[in-house]
Amino acid sequence: MTDMQATRILPIKQLQGVIDIPGDKSVSHRSVMFSALADTPVCIRNFLYAQDCLSTVSCMKALGAKIWQTPDDALWVQGNGLHGLTEPAVVLDAGNSGTTLRLLTGILSGQPFFTALTGDDSLRARPMSRVAKPLRLMGANLSGRQNGNLLPIAIQPPETFHGIRYEMPMASAQVKSAILLATLFADSASSVTEPYVSRDHTERMLETFGVTICREGTTVQLTPVDKLIAPPEIIVPGDISSAAFWLVAASIIPNSELLLRNVGMNPTRTGIIDALQAMGASIETVNERSSGSEPVADLKVRFANLRGIEIGGAMIPRLVDEIPVLAVAALSAEGRTVIRDASELRVKETDRLTAVAAELRRMGAILEETDDGLIIDGPQKLHWGDCHSYHDHRMAMAMAIAGSRHAGCSIDNPSCVSISYPAFFEVLQTIAKEDV
Ligand code: S3P
Repeated sequence: MTDMQATRILPIKQLQGVIDIPGDKSVSHRSVMFSALADTPVCIRNFLYAQDCLSTVSCMKALGAKIWQTPDDALWVQGNGLHGLTEPAVVLDAGNSGTTLRLLTGILSGQPFFTALTGDDSLRARPMSRVAKPLRLMGANLSGRQNGNLLPIAIQPPETFHGIRYEMPMASAQVKSAILLATLFADSASSVTEPYVSRDHTERMLETFGVTICREGTTVQLTPVDKLIAPPEIIVPGDISSAAFWLVAASIIPNSELLLRNVGMNPTRTGIIDALQAMGASIETVNERSSGSEPVADLKVRFANLRGIEIGGAMIPRLVDEIPVLAVAALSAEGRTVIRDASELRVKETDRLTAVAAELRRMGAILEETDDGLIIDGPQKLHWGDCHSYHDHRMAMAMAIAGSRHAGCSIDNPSCVSISYPAFFEVLQTIAKEDV
């Protein structure tokens, strides 16, 4: 979809208010997929009704699950059991969603029927060999453009389907989850090792569905089960990746203070809090509690003077989606920020290293793009820029925060925020305050 008009972001003097953080995208996807593989109804609360998760809903419906929304905004899923998916009569469309695509490819590789998968322009350019390779080692019968590296792909029933021991070349929850989910349909266990631990929502949620998962260091092992036993209710925590925009915005816009309610605090996701705190941010964690298998808390964040930091290695998967907005924070920090080991950003919705560098430069930023990261010396003052979102939700929101802090900007195709945070611009408007 292409918007007729760019949105104009004006400079904001301060941010004040309380924000209820919308449901976590990663957890929302998994809640629908796993519930559709069980045989009792599941009530999902705080589900993220955003484009990516709706792509998962429509794919699971096409595979035979009954899914409906009730007036209290709960999403209900009634599946037909672990072996109850049925051959879809249509090509499954994952839209913009890498998680829908990679996790479903895992699930579908072990099915006794044919499926075809596609996605939007961005998804059709993103690599699939990272999941196709291990799934083929399990016996998957997968074909597509560039030998199955690019969508559209077709999946035929496998002759045999077995678990594998697999060492992943990169930390990726999507690849790890694809292998683990495929193993649910295999005749033996799988063991997956990552260079660093990526988000573990699949492991946590599958455990609540009665699956035994062994974890040791960066290795996860899953043994096939006869059936998934669903919990009656799943409460989706707020998405820390959405909260991240407000954490950065309040940290860099003078006199700001925000209370972010219901933020998912899974330690495999809280890298942005650790990084900002290491930069000197004022973030207080209150009301810590758990929401099913996931920890949550409220966060109080206020303006602070930031300093540059160096991040890389194990930290990167813990904040992989937050790097565009972290770069915006770095521009307001005293000294040098170095982000390395982040080449995975090049295969996200867009090449986010090149995109962040190019779009911040339109606002006058001086920064260096390296092979696997960014180097930013701060503090810097930006001017107005006419920025591109590349139809990438996190690019659009990161540029909006930069424009708010500095001299404003325009952003093309702003409706791409509907991928993960449909209310983003409304929330920004309600928390923007004049000086008192
Ligand atoms: C996700 C995993 C991450 C992340 C994406 C969501 C998931 O991708 O960037 O937005 O839900 O598993 P990778 O695991 O490929 O890094």
